Amino acid sequence: MAAVLDSVRALLAPKADMAFLIDRENPGDVVARERLLDVAMGPGRRRKSSEAIRRGRIPAEGLALVARDAAGHVIGTVRLWAIQAGITPKGRIVPALLLGPLAVASEHEGKGIGGALMRAAILEARRRGHGAILLVGDAPYYERFGFSSEKAATLVMPGPFERHRFLGLELREGWLEGAAGIIVPAGRKLAASTTRKAA
Ligand SMILES: CC(C)(COP(=O)(O)OP(=O)(O)OC[C@H]1O[C@@H](n2cnc3c(N)ncnc32)[C@H](O)[C@@H]1OP(=O)(O)O)[C@@H](O)C(=O)NCCC(=O)NCCS
Repeated sequence: MAAVLDSVRALLAPKADMAFLIDRENPGDVVARERLLDVAMGPGRRRKSSEAIRRGRIPAEGLALVARDAAGHVIGTVRLWAIQAGITPKGRIVPALLLGPLAVASEHEGKGIGGALMRAAILEARRRGHGAILLVGDAPYYERFGFSSEKAATLVMPGPFERHRFLGLELREGWLEGAAGIIVPAGRKLAASTTRKAA
């Protein structure tokens, strides 16, 4: 993680006076993260198709990140989840990541925090050897990080989704080539007692 934080600091160098940092999420952040998401995404956030991938799972190792203000409070969040992104004509099941939700507290929007979270997440996913990231979101925002709808064109979310908002980014060249089919969750499951508490 230290490597990621150094990289993010380097990326932020032109605006080094900004008082936030990207950090790994810890258990003490969960309540603040959930509150932030409720406000940022609204009550419908749990009905999204992406939620079906995330429900009852834990994020991919090392890929639950938060942005903190100078006092350490959570002001941004992003998580990535292990998935299978279809299968190739040669029968290769394609492991990948699903990113989301990404959110920044409204009073801190426009300061580069969302971008810093995205860059840190992409760097850390690449460092950990992942081949590709998929997400459902606004292309005009995510294209700046290299995402495109072409990379997800032959893949399908497990439920209603808008095709033009389903985007992919290859971390290894050609990783998604020929991959077709429905996205299915592949991440580690939450312990049953935790699932009940979270429900
Ligand atoms: C989207 C979000 C994460 C961006 O966070 P942020 O910290 O404000 O982002 P940054 O400061 O890194 O980038 C701001 C830039 O992104 C642009 N931007 C923000 N949301 C955008 C969107 N949905 N589509 C296109 N551009 C967008 C801003 O206009 C701004 O552009 P500029 O740099 O040209 O001024 C934040 O606005 C948010 O939490 N929104 C509510 C939750 C949400 O919608 N999340 C999913 C996004 S699809």
